Amino acid sequence: MAIQTIQTQPFPDQKPGTSGLRKKVAVFQQPHYLENFVQSIFDSLDGFAGKTLVVGGDGRYGNLQATMVILRMAAANGFGRVLVGRDGLLSTPAASCVIRKHDAFGGIILSASHNPGGPDGDFGIKYNTGNGGPAPEKITDAIFERSKTIREYRIVDAEEIALDREHEFTLDGMTVNVIDPVADYAELMAELFDFRAIAHLFQSGFRMRFDAMHAITGPYATEILQNRLGAPRGTVINGVPLADFGGGHPDPNLTYAKELVDEMFGDKALDFGAASDGDGDRNMILGRRFFVTPSDSLALLTANATLAPGYADGLAGVARSMPTSAAVDRVAEALGIDCFETPTGWKFFGNLMDAGRVTLCGEESFGTGSSHVREKDGLWAVLFWLNILARRQQPVETLIRTHWARYGRNYYSRHDYEGVDTAGAEQLMAGLREGLETLPGRQLGLLTVAYADDFSYTDPVDGSVSTGQGIRIGFSEGSRIVFRLSGTGTEGATLRIYLERFEADPARHDQDTQQALADLIAIADDVAGIRRLTGREFPTVIT
Ligand code: G1P
Ligand code: ZN
Repeated sequence: MAIQTIQTQPFPDQKPGTSGLRKKVAVFQQPHYLENFVQSIFDSLDGFAGKTLVVGGDGRYGNLQATMVILRMAAANGFGRVLVGRDGLLSTPAASCVIRKHDAFGGIILSASHNPGGPDGDFGIKYNTGNGGPAPEKITDAIFERSKTIREYRIVDAEEIALDREHEFTLDGMTVNVIDPVADYAELMAELFDFRAIAHLFQSGFRMRFDAMHAITGPYATEILQNRLGAPRGTVINGVPLADFGGGHPDPNLTYAKELVDEMFGDKALDFGAASDGDGDRNMILGRRFFVTPSDSLALLTANATLAPGYADGLAGVARSMPTSAAVDRVAEALGIDCFETPTGWKFFGNLMDAGRVTLCGEESFGTGSSHVREKDGLWAVLFWLNILARRQQPVETLIRTHWARYGRNYYSRHDYEGVDTAGAEQLMAGLREGLETLPGRQLGLLTVAYADDFSYTDPVDGSVSTGQGIRIGFSEGSRIVFRLSGTGTEGATLRIYLERFEADPARHDQDTQQALADLIAIADDVAGIRRLTGREFPTVIT
């Protein structure tokens, strides 16, 4: 086998976003596009000769082919070994788990998360470092800089690379281990949670549905829930990963997980419902005719964490992304532990975890996780809930209502305007930014503005500063509106508006969320000119 050096031209658009490089499949299909980015990753790293790389992805269109290209390039660039999931599959949290468990130098994950797949859908690639977490901005910036000047990449010739079974082979001197994508992850879950109590729960007739949305968590959920914990067959639906996710949008929320939501809000609703996204890092939790917001889920897991064996000694601290509701803040206060507020995106949690300052963390965008890996983890959250349900022996709704009665309720919703005109969206954000100084003290609707700023974060561990992370408008009675533009979309711009109102009085915990937030919704449109600047009457997705 010979190492080939291929001449290439830089692409101007290989800037990693909130979670790696995400583009339409057609963009990735341009000759050398994938190879340029992979070589730019390798060129931005030091000291990996002879070391181990983990490779795997969410199974979307192009996954297997891209995996083979990466193996050939890893061999040509001097890695000693690659651990790759069978068929090129690894969920994002499982990839993080494998990197950590096998002391790998890093990993490449092929995923565009919850974005649709198939030939007309999205593709994505990201680099994770040896701690198992997404590369910090320092590295992603270096990758982008390199991608702008790259002139050649290295790749070995290879006839056929068989990834359809677990085995070992060499590729130009580099060892390739094709591994079971589920085994290491399942073992870790069994260490963290009380599998006996959960198995007993299923034996006693408790019934749940897990919607894998035709994406990567199918094999993981089937093995863990049905094979190991004894949940009946059929517990996992849409459990076979498909290259186009069955034509669906594999995002576990009330809009896209429709099959599950219809069942859980229907006459024959089960005790518990859950779903995960394209690459397995997100989760949605449902009780019988009851939706648990991700922000409340994080708060409840924090309050009940010691019921799970892996967290029995208590939590070092917790963290949430800035737009996530402050529900967890009050639990942290009651527990006497630190609560950190970080910018959107998982990469900001890693430093806090590596420094031992937080154990649990989460985002309003259906992401929850802990220091067991360095990614958010969908199935982990589901198992955590099952562990708590098995120990508390109460329905989901009762658990949440009891929680609200003690800590108060944060009415919370996110309104997304997807695929809007980029110029209009940027004008809207610029307009808000310009008006920030004039807002404090002003009366908007019936509310008075207490503060207005553009969120910036100084990492308490390494001192790095991230600015421009979202416009916050806070009101004197604790309500809040946050505006930001998505960093993961691939078409036009996506405007996200996060609305939150705190209600301490249990007698007022029964309102409809959108009604409870109606005044804030009106203020948001007023102050930002959403309808005027986006030309949209309504959000595309409300979660
Ligand atoms: C979105 C979510 C964010 C999450 C990211 C990756 O990013 O809002 O919380 O970390 O996906 O799953 P955004 O599109 O808002 O930049
Ligand atoms: Zn995801």
